[in-house]
Amino acid sequence: MADLSIDFAGLELESPLIAAAGMVGYGPELASVDGLRGLGAIITKSITLDARQGNAGMRVTDLQSGMLNAVGLANVGLDAFIGSVALQIRDLPVPAIPSIAGHSIGDYEQVAAAMQAMSFVKAVEVNVSCPNTDDGRAFAESPQKLHNLLVDIRSVLKRTAMIVKLPLDFESPSTAAEVAVEAGADALTLINTIPAMSIDVRTRRSRIGRSAGGASGPGIHPLAVRMVADVHKDIAGPAGIPILGLGGVMQWQDAAEFILAGATAVGLGTALFVDPRRPRKVLRGLRKWVKSQGCGSIRDLVGAVEV
Ligand SMILES: Cc1cc2nc3c(=O)[nH]c(=O)nc-3n(C[C@H](O)[C@H](O)[C@H](O)COP(=O)(O)O)c2cc1C
Repeated sequence: MADLSIDFAGLELESPLIAAAGMVGYGPELASVDGLRGLGAIITKSITLDARQGNAGMRVTDLQSGMLNAVGLANVGLDAFIGSVALQIRDLPVPAIPSIAGHSIGDYEQVAAAMQAMSFVKAVEVNVSCPNTDDGRAFAESPQKLHNLLVDIRSVLKRTAMIVKLPLDFESPSTAAEVAVEAGADALTLINTIPAMSIDVRTRRSRIGRSAGGASGPGIHPLAVRMVADVHKDIAGPAGIPILGLGGVMQWQDAAEFILAGATAVGLGTALFVDPRRPRKVLRGLRKWVKSQGCGSIRDLVGAVEV
């Protein structure tokens, strides 16, 4: 049988499939519907220092090719995470990777320090790319701001891997990737949702509670594949840094595309809203595909696109 295990930011994962931040709550929600099978790890909803209610009004709506959301980083906050959520995710059958977010460098540092103090946390994902809050991408205003933030978080995360979910605001995603790698990222995630808008033409209002939100799902997949390929070629490949490719994966072929483009791991987001048991189906397809390519391990196919 083809080997689908991977090494991702120091984590040895049995499957290359990872549940994306924000899609499975904190993890136990997915476990309760038997959704963990097929996954190598899960990434939690982004955690901030203080609890957040999130945006008012309609937060999620459908699009022809996916969904539009403006959740606004609703989460229980760090204290409740430590007090109750951490106890539940510590014993999940797959590793849980907390996603962290914040308003200021100090916020990020405090949350990162608290995460690293929990011995079961082997890696955190730093979210600097949320389009759904007013300051969600404050650190993506310039490469220098992003650099300063990541260097500080790195200094806090002494024994914990730093995965950076890249912003798409610079000239190219490779610019952000270069900053993250220079600051000591152990892995890169791309992509977050893409800023987007949908209007109800009868009411002439936005179809969600904010004027714009973030698009996810199949419509963003080809864009994400191109970004993964570019970042792998320009920055991550030469530096030996693994990528978590994410955006619109619904079936195994989409995951295989990310692997060929240069991703070591593949995230599932919107697909879990459609079918929480999708990971096991995608994994089955990937296993057959690796074998059909004459390879013993999925690792042999990372970045193997022929152009
Ligand atoms: C409802 C919803 C909530 C999300 N919440 C977060 C979040 O808390 N942190 C984060 O980094 N990304 C969040 N994301 C972005 C996803 O992790 C992912 O990057 C994006 O949806 C693209 O993947 P997909 O097309 O497979 O859904 C969220 C996406 C959606 C649709």
